[in-house]
Amino acid sequence: MDQEKVLLIVSLMLCFLRLSSAANYNVMQFGAKGDGVTDDTMAFERAWQEVCNDVGPSSRLTIPMPNTFLVGPITFQGPCKSPLIHIQILGTIIAPQNPSSWNGCETGAWLLFYKVNGLFIDGGGTINGRGDAWWTKSSTYITEESKCTIPPTALHFESCNGLRLTKLKHRNSPRNHIGLNRCSYSTLSYLDIAAPADSPNTDGIDISLSTQVRVHHSIIRTGDDCIALSNGSSQINITGIYCGPGHGISIGSLGMNGQYNTVEGVKVRKCQFSGTTNGARIKTWQGGSGYARDITFEKIFLHNVNNPIIIDQHYCPHNYNCPKESSAVKVNDISYKRFVGTSSSRTAINFDCSNNVACSGILLDHINITSSVKGEDPTVYCNNAYGTTSFSSPTASCLLN
Ligand SMILES: *[C@@H]1O[C@H](CO)[C@@H](O)[C@H](O)[C@H]1NC(C)=O
Ligand SMILES: *[C@@H]1O[C@H](CO)[C@@H](O)[C@H](O)[C@H]1NC(C)=O
Ligand SMILES: *[C@@H]1O[C@H](CO)[C@@H](O)[C@H](O)[C@H]1NC(C)=O
Repeated sequence: MDQEKVLLIVSLMLCFLRLSSAANYNVMQFGAKGDGVTDDTMAFERAWQEVCNDVGPSSRLTIPMPNTFLVGPITFQGPCKSPLIHIQILGTIIAPQNPSSWNGCETGAWLLFYKVNGLFIDGGGTINGRGDAWWTKSSTYITEESKCTIPPTALHFESCNGLRLTKLKHRNSPRNHIGLNRCSYSTLSYLDIAAPADSPNTDGIDISLSTQVRVHHSIIRTGDDCIALSNGSSQINITGIYCGPGHGISIGSLGMNGQYNTVEGVKVRKCQFSGTTNGARIKTWQGGSGYARDITFEKIFLHNVNNPIIIDQHYCPHNYNCPKESSAVKVNDISYKRFVGTSSSRTAINFDCSNNVACSGILLDHINITSSVKGEDPTVYCNNAYGTTSFSSPTASCLLN
């Protein structure tokens, strides 16, 4: 073979390698300092432009350790050219310390991914929203100082398909830690989410208008719901979650301000609640419409939970401005199977359904909840609730047939 042919073959091989292997970028190449003090927002924006515009079969952005990157509100805008975008977070990303230095509250999020399909984020690093400054301010004060009417969600995914978020630590979000809206075929796993028990509205994971989502093997300890599924959530599997402190795994709230809301096809399995205010919760406001149906909670371990099983169709926080309404979100086909553990309140099972739209198709199967208060026997409360029992302690004789 002559030299020219060899050169041609080599260059063809290089070309092939370039096309078939991931393009790798590192935020440091784009001027990030990673000293925890310098604002690296611009470097992240420039890096994202390159990553998202890369035409290769996959494109990777590394956020290295042991650096800490101070990043302000930022939108990672899609759609991207590559079908697979990999963000490897090895280091730590922190939000501005002071709410007054936030610009860009209009998205309601700190780190927003918009219309990015095939997004894969992992790396074992940390996303720290430094929410404490937000938690202590009143909402009017927040508005004046930083043009935000409510504190932002730390990490939000809007319109996505095929998201995989795994092996990350999420800390101290100003509000919800992770939000999914209009996302499908997505998996969240091996996450470690934490904020103080008394931090307001710091939900772990919020899902809405999304279908075919799996959340598994994660530890969530926050000041609000560990996971909340709201309007338009369907085909959601939640497995292997440790929740506590927090407000439990909640469907809702649904039907606020007379809205038509729906949630269906939810399976919560092998989860543990410890010291939470709720375990398996469904909450709806009076006056709404729609449904919450085909929902199963199975193999649930409870330790000192205030409301292990609760359907609250008179949801109205602080009991402020809650007139009686006749319509309601219909709650049906809800199964509770294999619950074991302790309740810290007397009413371990609370089916407070709408007076006008009954709950139906409730199943209690192998429920064994005892009281964490010595000598106390837990009870079941029902209001307009229809269903069946195959072994439940406490006994649910108040369920109508
Ligand atoms: C949820 O689990 C069920 C039963 O194991 C399975 O058939 C279904 O495909 C799962 N859905 C998702 C979104 O993982
Ligand atoms: C609730 O979600 C459904 C789609 O599942 C949508 O049609 C409806 O508009 C949503 N309701 C509100 C109040 O956003
Ligand atoms: C219920 O659980 C308690 C302890 O948590 C246990 O001692 C008891 O045997 C269980 N009852 C049944 C019927 O499984």
